[in-house]
Amino acid sequence: MSDTKVMKDLEQAFEAIRSKIPFTPKVGVILGSGLGLLADRLNIEAKIPYSEIPGFPVSTVSGHAGQFLFAHTEGGTPVVLMQGRVHYYEGYNMQQVVMPLRLMKMMGIETVYLSNAAGGANRSFVPGDLMIITDHIASFVPSPLNGPNSEELGVRFPDMTAVYDQHLRKVAKELAEEMNVNLKEGVYIQLPGPQYETPAEIRMVMALGADAVGMSTACEAIAARHMGLRVFGISLITNLASGLGNGTLSHEEVKECADRAGEVFSRLILGMLERDE
Ligand code: HPA
Repeated sequence: MSDTKVMKDLEQAFEAIRSKIPFTPKVGVILGSGLGLLADRLNIEAKIPYSEIPGFPVSTVSGHAGQFLFAHTEGGTPVVLMQGRVHYYEGYNMQQVVMPLRLMKMMGIETVYLSNAAGGANRSFVPGDLMIITDHIASFVPSPLNGPNSEELGVRFPDMTAVYDQHLRKVAKELAEEMNVNLKEGVYIQLPGPQYETPAEIRMVMALGADAVGMSTACEAIAARHMGLRVFGISLITNLASGLGNGTLSHEEVKECADRAGEVFSRLILGMLERDE
């Protein structure tokens, strides 16, 4: 037993659901805003609602149903999906935000696919584009590793030189080419939200080298690398970032675009789940 609060909470949550986990998943997938369609493409074998897990953060955002889904792909890969995640802006601290991811690691995953809806901060991007995350900027949000280190999870000072797995990125690019999908690549920046950015903030993040702006994912990628998971990250560009398009930004616009692009996203991820290795 560990003595950190993080480990105690995790062990308690894991004990509560242990008997409901149908098999050992190999890959975890976190579904971003509106990207839940992927779950409809799989034969779901078991569900664990977050509300049944003690100490678990429950999402308050519309479009983010909260549950773990368990399925095997057609090729037999055992997968656990997170339908809905929690965000820092909901008032949870970063340790709580990454708790579901850590729980998936306790279930047995070795790889995690992180997805999100994001604003495009690169002038060559258009709404509907998919962007493979090559690197991230997380310096504007607290670290999920803040506080006493849980040695069971990882080291105190984890390396972040290569967060996003090269091999998985290559598989995604090969598949996209076969599918005739124009896949973009770039740097994701996580900002705290929940307000969308101002045009001045977008000029700032562009100057810093960001291509996509969102309110999730980088903190999860950090926690995942801390635990030694392989990470794949993908952003669905739902809108041009503030000041780059003509209009204003709204959650409705983000959800609508995600719904439209969900089909391509699902095919790509399903293809990757079969082809990885
Ligand atoms: N900014 C931040 N987060 C987002 C955006 C955006 O423009 N679009 C979708 N999520």
